[in-house]
Amino acid sequence: MSDPVVIRGGTVAEASWCAPADVFVADGRVTALAEPGTPAPRGTAEIDAGGMLVLPGGVDPHCHVGFTSGDFTSLDDYAQCTTAAVFGGTTTIVDFAIPRPGQAPADAAHAQRAKAAGGLCDSALHACVVEWDETVPDQLRSLVADGMPTVKMFTTYRGETMADEDTILRTMSTLRDLGGMVVIHCEANHIIEDTQTRCSHDGRIGAEHMAATRPELAETASVAEVLAIAESLKAPVYFVHQSTPEAVELVAAARRRGLAAYTESVAHHLVLDDGLYAGAAPERFVCCPPLRPRPVVDGLARHLATGEITTIGSDHCCYDVAQKESRRSDVRAMPNGLPGVETRLPVIFSEFVAGGALPVSRFVELTAANPARTNGLYPRKGTLMPGADADIAIWDPSARWTITSGDLHMATDYTPYEGMTVTGRPRTVLVGGRVVVHDGVLADATPRGRHLAASPITPAPARR
Ligand code: URP
Ligand code: ZN
Ligand code: ZN
Repeated sequence: MSDPVVIRGGTVAEASWCAPADVFVADGRVTALAEPGTPAPRGTAEIDAGGMLVLPGGVDPHCHVGFTSGDFTSLDDYAQCTTAAVFGGTTTIVDFAIPRPGQAPADAAHAQRAKAAGGLCDSALHACVVEWDETVPDQLRSLVADGMPTVKMFTTYRGETMADEDTILRTMSTLRDLGGMVVIHCEANHIIEDTQTRCSHDGRIGAEHMAATRPELAETASVAEVLAIAESLKAPVYFVHQSTPEAVELVAAARRRGLAAYTESVAHHLVLDDGLYAGAAPERFVCCPPLRPRPVVDGLARHLATGEITTIGSDHCCYDVAQKESRRSDVRAMPNGLPGVETRLPVIFSEFVAGGALPVSRFVELTAANPARTNGLYPRKGTLMPGADADIAIWDPSARWTITSGDLHMATDYTPYEGMTVTGRPRTVLVGGRVVVHDGVLADATPRGRHLAASPITPAPARR
């Protein structure tokens, strides 16, 4: 239970509108959006939001917490990851329960779900299927019933998480009938392994050659294959971290043909380019898919405004410099991924909203409302309409500040955006109606995180 609060004097931005309004909150929920100056019941605390935007807290649809892959585990737990999230204006994360080799998907999901209570904000989970066996359909049924209707799959990372096409097809087909959805990392592994082998023979396998080792056409080819499977099944599908305009356009074309197909892009692919691999510390930018050339980055970003990108995630992976440096001479052995849960909203706001390319409502749609919708969390999350959880970012749209890792809260010692000056940041953040960050300072570190049981993504069709 939280005390009654009214946030006064701000401009509320929802996914489809933006207007001056006061936001009334009680018992952890939004109770009303009202004309500015509407009298409040006695005992209601007031928060002044004059000159600020009042946004639904961000929903990060792609966030790895304490993620083990190969020899490496990313460094944060739920307390650390969600502390960083709320400082960055994000109040819901969707993590992954990736089974270790031999572990059942449901066991991985139940183990990861138990960690949610350590968070400062709520979280949901994508389950994950790597191999098909006769127990998988029942596991998927119980995962969907337990609020985990989205299931991550990978077409790459042989020996870790790579699934073959039969497994992808069977998982998609089963989930379609349960109201669930596959969310998928698409890079054609055979093309990548062959390219890496050739790069290695030429002495081009270090971090500075990252972009060459995972070509764009590996992503395009894999997206086309997975779309074909989804279309033949009429199954919904969500593509994570799409990094090229070609990949986005394939999905958009399938959507125009009537398929429920969604594109996620992540902040670093929309802002950073592969020139960073030529710099002094290329290993700090090693992620999959890799950063792309500037014309590709700009082409991808143009799809933000057109509506062809559905969501923006972070693909947060909290490795530190020592982990990244330890294998920099061979990208095949490196820990992939970049820390980003805290910088996702400020970087995207600065580049595209303050930069003039994106209306603030579209920013809210991409970073909060659509991630909530595609993950079965809407309208509890991703909106400030009455009845929603009172997860709110009071956002200063004109604050100018320089990103430096020492000022951030992620469990790492670097940020890929070091030294970047940006415009806009959250000032005060409420989670469940409680002020957790006040004027940029942690006001309440009590872990009250809940695992969110997500609703089915689509109505389950009648059994055929
Ligand atoms: O490089 C990345 N993206 N690492 C995290 C795992 C994944 O592929 O999403
Ligand atoms: Zn991935
Ligand atoms: Zn990821």
